[in-house]
Amino acid sequence: MRRLQDRVTVVTGAGSGIGLATVRRFAEEGARVVCVDLDEATGTKAADEVGGLFVQADVTDEDDVARVFRTAFETYGSVDVAFNNAGISPPDDDSILETGLDAWRRVQEVNLTSVYLCCKHAIPYMQRQGKGSIVNTASFVAVMGSATSQISYTASKGGVLAMSRELGVQFAREGIRVNALCPGPVNTPLLQELFAKDPERAQRRLVHIPLGRFAEASEIAAAVAFLASDDASFITGSQFLVDGGISGA
Ligand code: NAI
Repeated sequence: MRRLQDRVTVVTGAGSGIGLATVRRFAEEGARVVCVDLDEATGTKAADEVGGLFVQADVTDEDDVARVFRTAFETYGSVDVAFNNAGISPPDDDSILETGLDAWRRVQEVNLTSVYLCCKHAIPYMQRQGKGSIVNTASFVAVMGSATSQISYTASKGGVLAMSRELGVQFAREGIRVNALCPGPVNTPLLQELFAKDPERAQRRLVHIPLGRFAEASEIAAAVAFLASDDASFITGSQFLVDGGISGA
């Protein structure tokens, strides 16, 4: 399928996990891919693999984010899709009684403020074109909470969900769709790192997933490609769950 033929797509967190799988999927679907990551080595590798463009940027920095979308536009002539996906896992003990203010603020910065900045700087290009699709990575925990005490992480993802709904409604008449992607647990370095610290947590999670396994990043990328494409032309402001049934169990 080449549903994104010649579309200019920006992917943040492109060097690893869900972002990397989406870079590959977008390229398979014919897109021009602008790969954004803080990590120069992995971001460059991702871009080289698909003949895309790498822009090194910290998505919490407004000047960096503005430069990302300006570069995409100046290089390829449009900004059709923004997949605002970069994020970090919760601090070690993320219960409300233990998480310090600095750790809380850092998670909000990387997981939520970054999405605000990326939407803010992508939308003006999409307005000029009269169309665009934005997919923001939230999480299943934004919909159902988490029994594993992730207060700063869950709150950040709840913010992404609410912001996506708000923007989806606000910009619908301008042809810009905005959706929140809500993955369940996905087998990526972020999850592996979390479970390495607390192996029992992996087992506890697994029993709650009706499909009985963690997702592969490519399965999440398939959903992102759908939301980014015209196949999802009547979907905006949604919370798009790709969670193996966990939120329905
Ligand atoms: P990952 O750790 O494999 O990849 C995250 C990427 O984001 C890395 O390449 C990292 O360098 C980049 N990044 C981090 N901070 C950045 C910054 N300030 N500026 C630019 N790039 C930055 O993580 P994964 O698992 O692929 O997660 C991607 C998104 O999916 C995150 O928002 C995460 O919260 C979310 N998510 C992940 C789930 C999982 O089980 N893996 C489940 C639900 C949501």
